[in-house]
Amino acid sequence: MTKKKKIIGLSCGRKNGNSECLLKEALMGAEELGVESEIIRAMELRVKPCKGCETCTMLMVRGKEPVCAIKDDDVPWILEKVLLEDAGFILAHPLYHLRANGYFECIHERMLPVMFKHPEILKKNKVGGIISVGGGEPEWTPLGLTSANIFVQHSWRLVDQMQVNFCGRPASVLLHPEYIERARKLGRNVAAAMMMPIEEVRYMGEDSAVSCPVCHCNVLKVPGRLPEVFCPVCWVRGKVHMEGTEMKVTWDEESKRIPRFSERGVFSHLDLIKNLQKTFYENEDKVKEMKKKYEHYGNIVRPQAG
Ligand SMILES: Cc1cc2nc3c(=O)[nH]c(=O)nc-3n(C[C@H](O)[C@H](O)[C@H](O)COP(=O)(O)O)c2cc1C
Repeated sequence: MTKKKKIIGLSCGRKNGNSECLLKEALMGAEELGVESEIIRAMELRVKPCKGCETCTMLMVRGKEPVCAIKDDDVPWILEKVLLEDAGFILAHPLYHLRANGYFECIHERMLPVMFKHPEILKKNKVGGIISVGGGEPEWTPLGLTSANIFVQHSWRLVDQMQVNFCGRPASVLLHPEYIERARKLGRNVAAAMMMPIEEVRYMGEDSAVSCPVCHCNVLKVPGRLPEVFCPVCWVRGKVHMEGTEMKVTWDEESKRIPRFSERGVFSHLDLIKNLQKTFYENEDKVKEMKKKYEHYGNIVRPQAG
């Protein structure tokens, strides 16, 4: 008997809240295509933020096995499960203060040791989808999909994504049949993509005349002067131009082929990190001496004990 295909859903919102209901709807849609599922409920697990100790990076730079120094939470388990298991992935997260919430971000920013140890995840041989949920109007949700893509673009071919608005109270999304239907379609799209050879997988979500060709978000960064624009997630370069009466972006083919989270994009960044570490060690004594000025300066305040 052939093993059934599986989607792992990462639920970062409240238990049976809006994002989780939509995730479950998507998984029910996937089930119609014979795909089974598992749900990781981040809020019920131990999720701690990265402490910035650089243990994983230093181990990687020295050619040793990169591990995370935080040993008392579930984040390494979550990351190994979603990044390494042979499964599709659907992320469902709420928006807090315009971008994906802290549970999601804490998991996301802890991914380096897993990526350093398993660079093969950058080959993007798996498919994924994103459900981003906000309580406010669209003006209050512009960075939901953008923040989620910073994680998803590392390891999955994005098949579909949806931004939900106006859903604040828990499960109030159930009053919006259009979102429920859209989530079911998203689940089916991810499941259908899992049945295809990976090279044939195409994005099936919404697009606009200015969407990034890789993550399909339409947030543009203008680091210098127009008409040059960049996707802040993928760092794909484009030029805004007029086509008749409409403004469009023409994306540069080379940067589209090697976006930030491609194997080459990530490895060239890691080379830079290695070189910066080298410069640091060459100047370690000098930095130690210069640092003395700051070590004991400042009125550090804390809450009163008791
Ligand atoms: C601290 C906090 C900040 C929030 N900020 C935003 C926001 O900037 N934009 C928005 O649309 N919704 C915001 N919301 C509303 C949540 O995104 C909304 O309630 C969502 O449905 C929660 O998802 P859940 O039901 O899956 O937990 C915020 C909620 C909280 C608790």
